[in-house]
Amino acid sequence: MSAPLVTVLGGTGHMGAAVAGRLEDRGAQVRRAARSTGVDAGTGAGLAEALAGADVVVDCLNVPTQSRRAVSFFSGAAAKVARAAEAAGVGHVVVLSIVNVADPLPRRLTGYYAGKAAQEAVYAGARVPVSLVRTTAWFTLARMFLEMGRVGPVRLVPSLQLQPVHPDAVADLLAEVALGEPPQERRLLQLAGPEVISSGAMAASLAETDVVPGRVVPLPVPGAPGRSLLPHADQQVATDARTFSAWLEDRRGPS
Ligand SMILES: NC(=O)c1ccc[n+]([C@@H]2O[C@H](COP(=O)([O-])OP(=O)(O)OC[C@H]3O[C@@H](n4cnc5c(N)ncnc54)[C@H](OP(=O)(O)O)[C@@H]3O)[C@@H](O)[C@H]2O)c1
Repeated sequence: MSAPLVTVLGGTGHMGAAVAGRLEDRGAQVRRAARSTGVDAGTGAGLAEALAGADVVVDCLNVPTQSRRAVSFFSGAAAKVARAAEAAGVGHVVVLSIVNVADPLPRRLTGYYAGKAAQEAVYAGARVPVSLVRTTAWFTLARMFLEMGRVGPVRLVPSLQLQPVHPDAVADLLAEVALGEPPQERRLLQLAGPEVISSGAMAASLAETDVVPGRVVPLPVPGAPGRSLLPHADQQVATDARTFSAWLEDRRGPS
C-alpha cells in the first residue's frame, strides 16, 4: 500500500509542524498548508489544490485574536475546509480543539473560545468523517500568558484553573488518530494533563525558569468561569502523566 497523503492545515504552526514531523516519521506523505505555503483557509485560495488526493486532513489552524473576529475566522475556514474535503473525497478530517470550549461559560469568556465553539459546530455538520480531538491547555500556553498581559513591569495573567498537558502528547495523539481508522461519521477524543494548576502559577514558574523580568499578577476573570475549562468528572478524558514542573526542568537543562 502507498503511503497515506495527509494535508496539515496550519502545518507551519506550533502544533501543525509537530504533527507533520511525526506523520513523516511514520511514513506518511505530508503537505503543510498555510498562507506562507500559498493556502488561505480564510478565503479558500489554494485549498482545493492542498486537499487534492489527500487521504486525511488535520486542521491545526489558528488566529491570533481574543476578539469576535475569531468566530468568523474559525467558522468560515471550517466551512470551506469541510466543503473542499467533501469535494476532494478526503476520507477523514481530524480537528484540534479545546476541552469544554463549546460549553456556555467558555464561549462567553472570549471571542476566541466562541470561535473554537463555532468551528466545532461547523465540523459537526460536515459530510465527511470527522475526529474531534479536544485537549486542555498545553504547557506552552504559559509563554502566551506572559507575553499577552505585559503592562510596564507587570504581567497580568487571567486567573483560570487548568489541567495542562505536554504538547508532545497532543502531537502524538493527533498523528496516531490521523493514521488510524476513520470513524463512520463522528468521534470525540479528549486529552488532559495529570494535575490542576492555575494559569498564574504556570506563568510565574515559567517566568522564573526562563528568567523573564516582571511580576506576574493573576487577574480575576469576571463571571466566575475560572474552573470551566477543567474536564468534567463524567467525561472520558485520556491523561498524559508528564507534569508541568518536569517540563520546566527539561527547559532548564542540566545544571
Ligand atoms: N495552545 C493551547 O493550549 C491549545 C490547546 C488546545 C487546542 N489548541 C488549538 O490548537 C490549534 C493550533 O494552535 P497553534 O498554537 O499550533 O497555532 P499557531 O502556532 O498559531 O499556528 C497557526 C497555523 O495556522 C496557519 N494559518 C493561520 N491563518 C491561516 C489561514 N487563513 N489560512 C491558512 N493557514 C493559516 C499559520 O500559518 P500562516 O500564518 O503562514 O498562515 C500557522 O501554520 C488552534 O486551533 C488552537 O485553538 C491550542
